[in-house]
Amino acid sequence: MNLKLNVVPFVSVDNMMKLVLTIGVERFLLELAECIEADFRRWESFDKTPRVASHSREGVIELMPTSDGEVYGFKYVNGHPKNTREGRQTVTAFGVLADVATGYPVLLTEMTILTALRTAATSAVAAKHLAPKGARTMAIIGNGAQAEFQALAFKALLGVDTLRLYDIDRSASTKCVRNLAGLGFGITVCNSIEEAMEGVQIVTTVTADKQNATILTDNMVGSGLHINAVGGDCPGKTELHADILKRSDIFVEYPPQTRIEGEIQQLPADYPVKELWRVIAGLEPGRTGDRQITLFDSVGFAIEDFSALRYVKRQIEQTGLSDELDLLADPDEPRDLFGMLLRAAATPNAA
Ligand SMILES: NC(=O)c1ccc[n+]([C@@H]2O[C@H](COP(=O)([O-])OP(=O)(O)OC[C@H]3O[C@@H](n4cnc5c(N)ncnc54)[C@H](O)[C@@H]3O)[C@@H](O)[C@H]2O)c1
Repeated sequence: MNLKLNVVPFVSVDNMMKLVLTIGVERFLLELAECIEADFRRWESFDKTPRVASHSREGVIELMPTSDGEVYGFKYVNGHPKNTREGRQTVTAFGVLADVATGYPVLLTEMTILTALRTAATSAVAAKHLAPKGARTMAIIGNGAQAEFQALAFKALLGVDTLRLYDIDRSASTKCVRNLAGLGFGITVCNSIEEAMEGVQIVTTVTADKQNATILTDNMVGSGLHINAVGGDCPGKTELHADILKRSDIFVEYPPQTRIEGEIQQLPADYPVKELWRVIAGLEPGRTGDRQITLFDSVGFAIEDFSALRYVKRQIEQTGLSDELDLLADPDEPRDLFGMLLRAAATPNAA
């Protein structure tokens, strides 16, 4: 029994980095992918709701809750594409796990790094089922904060070892090349999206723009390609031309959310899509043919964050890489909250 009822384990950015480096990025991605797959297999045991989004001219702030009846989790996350021009991240996040039986939080953690890891792990899990067998070559369009995590997840889960990079800002691609040096990739920086697409079996689009963009047009997409579309994840923020969607088999996380936020917002509300969890659970096939174009229309769903939060909780229990956060008021007598306040006034140092 935890005697310090006021304390919630807190994972700072510093401790998250130590944790990821202690475990190793690729092992972390592999283990996290296993957790995500395990939770997707028990998809029906979760409370699900499209995330609660607050849109503004410059971006979006979202809350992403879910629960399996025993544990509750949520993530706060923003998306502000203009932020990088001011030295801020496009995406930042933090998250909480709580015990359903008492309602008490049991973990508070940074999730900016964890979101990049869980997004990449989910993409690679999808690609394991949807990409052509033996795919080794991937284009990454958009080489910002998420890009290296995507590359490493595809290496760890699928053996992708050849990357073709493109970004409208060359310095982003150069940063990627620098960060991925010595990690087992052959990398080509390309001058156009068309050039990046030459000879690839997988394309990851992970750009940030606060509007509908057309990163891929129909003529760039050859038969047999797997498209991992990560950057289109808000109303009015897409990356693919609608014609591509009509030639693809489309796989999504949670349809009610993806129909609002994903590439498929461009299609009629009843357009047929497949749910990724059903493929992972073996209820539906993933890729069925060499010429099939598969599209993972990723927007990011709360269950992936829940998996990541639970994985981190287990890891900090083993490594001790967390701080004690005095988060919950804990009067000696539970109903004497005001008395606790009065006693703190009497002995300020004790407060
Ligand atoms: N699906 C998910 O689960 C999920 C999770 C996290 C982030 N995202 C989304 O992924 C995207 C990337 O996030 P990030 O943190 O890497 O952002 P970032 O701002 O760090 O990087 C985005 C990169 O895209 C480049 N870019 C913009 N327009 C482009 C274009 N037309 N062609 C080529 N490159 C272009 C920018 O120059 C920048 O380098 C965002 O849109 C974010 O909302 C999705």
